[in-house]
Amino acid sequence: MNLANKRLKVGITYDLKKDFSHREDQPIDSFEEFDSEETIDAIRQVLESDGHEVFKLGGGAGLIDRFRNSPVDIVFNIAEGIGGRNREAHIPALLEFLNIPYTGSDPLTLSLTLDKAMAKKVVRSEGIPTPGFQKVERMEDLHGLDLHYPLFVKLCYEGSSKGVRLDSKISDPSSLGEKVKWLLETYGPPVLVEEFVSGPEFTVGILGNSYPVVLGVMQIEIKGSPPDEAIYSLEVKREWEEKVRYHCPPPITGDLQKRIEEVAVRAYCALDCRDVSRVDIRVGEDGVPYFLEINPLPGLSPVYGDLPIMAGRMGWEYSRLVQTIFHHALERYGIAG
Ligand SMILES: Nc1ncnc2c1ncn2[C@@H]1O[C@H](COP(=O)(O)OP(=O)(O)OP(=O)(O)O)[C@@H](O)[C@H]1O
Ligand SMILES: [Mg+2]
Repeated sequence: MNLANKRLKVGITYDLKKDFSHREDQPIDSFEEFDSEETIDAIRQVLESDGHEVFKLGGGAGLIDRFRNSPVDIVFNIAEGIGGRNREAHIPALLEFLNIPYTGSDPLTLSLTLDKAMAKKVVRSEGIPTPGFQKVERMEDLHGLDLHYPLFVKLCYEGSSKGVRLDSKISDPSSLGEKVKWLLETYGPPVLVEEFVSGPEFTVGILGNSYPVVLGVMQIEIKGSPPDEAIYSLEVKREWEEKVRYHCPPPITGDLQKRIEEVAVRAYCALDCRDVSRVDIRVGEDGVPYFLEINPLPGLSPVYGDLPIMAGRMGWEYSRLVQTIFHHALERYGIAG
C-alpha cells in the first residue's frame, strides 16, 4: 500500500529521565542515557507538522497495552530500554513480533552494538581498525593482560559516557586495578579495557540504508585539554556548553576526512545499521582512524544531541533530520512512494 501522502498514525517510543528517581546507592549517572520530554515533543512537532497523527507511547512493560489501545502504522523508536545488553532491542523485538514497522536498527544490531566488545569483534573481522581490547568480568581477568599502555577503561554495555570520567585514561597497572575495581563494584561487570587512542576525536553521522550517506564529520575538541589527554567524559558531556568546542566540518585535510568517513561507513555496514547512526572515531599517532563505538540510537535532543548539533552545522534544520530518519524507515517498509 502506498501511504506516501496518507496521514499516518505514528507512535513514539522512549524512556524519560524524569520517570526514574535516583536512589542514594545508585551511581550519579544511572539514568544518563534517558531522554527529556522536550526531545519527544520536538520529534512529535516535526511529525505532526508533516500531517501525521502522533501518539506519545513511552516505554516499559505498559507499552504492550498502549499498542492495543492506540494501533499505529509505524513507530519512531528512541527507547533506550532498561537493563542488560539487550535493553535497546526490547521494543524493536516486540514491534517485530506485532508486525509493526519502526525506525532505526533491528534487535540484532541494537544488542550487538550496545555490547562494545562484540561490536569490535565484528568490525575487526572486517579489517576495520579498532583499538586492542579485553573484556573483564572479574579482577583475575587482568592477569596476563596483553595490551599496550596507556589504556582506557569503560563499561562494556553503556552509553552517554556512563562510567567514563576524566581519569579513565590509565598509565600503569596499579591505577588500572583501582579503576577496574571501582567500575566492577559501582556498576557491575563487564568492563572493557582498551588501548588508548591519543589523537583527535570525531563523531560521524550516517543516514540511509542501501547507500548510506555521511551527514557530517564533527571534531570534538575538549577545551583546555591537549588531544592526548582529551576525554569526552561524563563531566565534559554534562557541561558541554563550557567544555566542548565542536568543529563541523572539521579543520582537517580532505584525505583524513575521507579516511574517517570510510571507517564510519564500513562499520555502519558491517553492523547492519539502518536509517541512522553516529560513529565515534579517534585518530591514532599513526594517523589511522580507529573505530571506538557506534550508536544506532543516537541522542536526538535538539539542544545538546551531537547528531542534531552536527546537522545544524551542516545547514540542516532539526526537522529535516527527523524527517530523513523517518523517510528512510518508510522507504524500507515500502510505505513511501
Ligand atoms: N580507546 C579509547 N581511546 C581514547 N579515548 C577513548 C577510548 N574509548 C573511549 N574514549 C573516550 O571516551 C569517550 C566515551 O567513550 P565511548 O564513546 O566508548 O562511550 P559512550 O558512553 O558509549 O559514548 P556515547 O555518549 O557516544 O554513547 C569517547 O568519546 C572518547 O573521548
Ligand atoms: Mg561514544
